[in-house]
Amino acid sequence: MKVPRHIAIIMDGNGRWARRQDMPRIMGHYRGAEVAEDITKACIDLGVEYLTLFAFSTENWNRPKEEVRLLFDLLRKYLTDKREELLELGVRLKFIGRRDRIGRDLRYLMEELERETSVSYRITVTLAVDYGGRDDILRAVNKLVRLKFDHVDESTFSHFLDLGDIPDPDLLIRTAGEKRISNFLLWNLAYTELYFTDLCWPEFTRDELLRAVEDFSGRKRKFGRVLDE
Ligand code: IPE
Ligand code: IPE
Ligand code: MG
Repeated sequence: MKVPRHIAIIMDGNGRWARRQDMPRIMGHYRGAEVAEDITKACIDLGVEYLTLFAFSTENWNRPKEEVRLLFDLLRKYLTDKREELLELGVRLKFIGRRDRIGRDLRYLMEELERETSVSYRITVTLAVDYGGRDDILRAVNKLVRLKFDHVDESTFSHFLDLGDIPDPDLLIRTAGEKRISNFLLWNLAYTELYFTDLCWPEFTRDELLRAVEDFSGRKRKFGRVLDE
């Protein structure tokens, strides 16, 4: 089986899953966080080097205030509680997205975890928080303008994006039946293989991950070329 070096996931359907069981939407987010942990472990077992998870988009601020508050509470609690486990598992944690609209305590926690987990690791897990693909591109352009670049090539531009020198995702998984990118990694997904499943994120399993990887294994990646018949 060809294992993707970099898997990106749009973890969608937490709310629908919870509503279906007559629970408040936030319960879907709680369950979703547990699934993210389990899928991280499965990726380590598979030998995936990079896992990038979409946790909160620049557009998700338009949700009810209470849901946004609970989501950030959940993230803060998760990052605090899981600190030791991340180190034990060998997870290098990184964050992409804007940092200027989230609370200072959470920002410090994120920076601290990035520092602490960067020494010895088996997988790089990147959490996209207040992330938007267009915002990422614009922040990169503005950095380049400030540095007075008058010409950039693709690799320089990539370097200035949030994922920096992390290789482009090989496989993108989106759960919950929606077939769109929703402003995720617009630049980096140029040649990524896409996999969609109707399962909501809280019901996503290791087996489903394996199905996605098996499916990926059978794809012919052409990058615009003609393959020998
Ligand atoms: C994904 O689940 C998690 C976030 C976007 C934070 P949703 O909350 O979007 O769940 P649905 O799509 O409403 O079911
Ligand atoms: C995308 O899901 C963002 C995350 C998974 C964090 P959304 O639920 O926000 O996307 P749309 O609104 O269905 O496009
Ligand atoms: Mg959704």
